[in-house]
Amino acid sequence: MPAFPSLATGDSPATCAVTDLGERFASVREHSLNLAAPLSDEDQCIQSMPDASPTKWHLAHTSWFLEAVVLVPHLYGYVEFDPRFAHLFNSYYESLGPRHPRPQRGLLTRPSLAQVHAYREHVDAAVQRLLAQPGTCDWETAASLLELAVNHEQQHQELMLTDILHTFSCNPLLPAYQPLEEPLLRLAAASAPLRWIGMPGGVVEVGSDASGFAFDNEAPRHALLLEPYRLADRLVTCGDYAQFIADGGYERASLWLSDGWAAVQAGGWKHPAYWLAAGDSRAPADHWQVFGLHGVRPLDPQTPVSQLSFYEAAAYAEWAGARLPTEFEWETAFGAPGITQMTGQLWQWTRSSYGPYPGFRPFAGAVGEYNGKFMVGQMVLRGGSAATTEGHTRATYRNFFPPAARWQFSGLRLAQDATC
Ligand SMILES: [Fe+2]
Repeated sequence: MPAFPSLATGDSPATCAVTDLGERFASVREHSLNLAAPLSDEDQCIQSMPDASPTKWHLAHTSWFLEAVVLVPHLYGYVEFDPRFAHLFNSYYESLGPRHPRPQRGLLTRPSLAQVHAYREHVDAAVQRLLAQPGTCDWETAASLLELAVNHEQQHQELMLTDILHTFSCNPLLPAYQPLEEPLLRLAAASAPLRWIGMPGGVVEVGSDASGFAFDNEAPRHALLLEPYRLADRLVTCGDYAQFIADGGYERASLWLSDGWAAVQAGGWKHPAYWLAAGDSRAPADHWQVFGLHGVRPLDPQTPVSQLSFYEAAAYAEWAGARLPTEFEWETAFGAPGITQMTGQLWQWTRSSYGPYPGFRPFAGAVGEYNGKFMVGQMVLRGGSAATTEGHTRATYRNFFPPAARWQFSGLRLAQDATC
């Protein structure tokens, strides 16, 4: 299994590694509960669309993943909390058995939230037993899978936020997940006009070098050729995007990819998903407003525009006389002088289809289904958002969503050919 840190038992560094993994595991598990804390039991059960899962399901599914991938195969004598839960909380692992239909996760009023919390405690206690006796199993493999499970739960932590935000966006009351006094999203306002940062191109290396944890889709590291290009020093802002709307951006087919224009027509898109036009009856005002985790707020023209689909990002770039960067241009520019907002603000759509790197090999075993089987029909996003758990992403990280998805913390950064 590639790309995981090597852990061996029997010496001091290995003991430190086990302790570190155990502490990170406990911290991540606690963080999931903290994210759910502002929500009522009713909030945590509802499913607003097939792509968005209930909070309670996320809390249970991450526990099932630990149970199915780490505990059942590697903790001797482990007894499942409830064997029926595998059917309810398996997401998409064909090799791990049949599943409850994804669009019907919101129907699972049972088990109760209290039972799901008890499930989490049962799993957490078992993981601590595993960590206390690494010599009783194939620890190298178990530790690798536990590291994967920690990163998996971090991914679901962001989904808990994006999914509840979509749920709340469907409620005419437009409730706030969190009061503004406790800022969760720290989107940095752009303070200066956009500047272009020149990049020389040439033969570059991209992908994980296997020096730390990485998902299988980030490897192997490999070389490729980039033409010279320019990258915007910052993300596109709400003020930038408002100009696109005012210029008829959603009414000009020539700006859109064919599938994107079809999505505009079918969905009646006139602005980003969570923008409220002046006069919207849900929160009357005479100006643009934006709904987010802090509720409805006046549009701030300096903050990055979010919750965009790939189609909207590509249309904006076309209107702006630019294009989206490829994922490899983005990765190569990471850390370049003058580049800002590469991570911690918004995921950034790229012009790259999600596919395997040359020599890609999925993880061994059931977790081979984690990434590889989704490598068709989706676009890569790079960076990481303010809703991404701190420390979860890196320069080589490849997020991916279908091009019409517009409920994630997704925005864009412009690119140009150097010859423009
Ligand atoms: Fe998952």
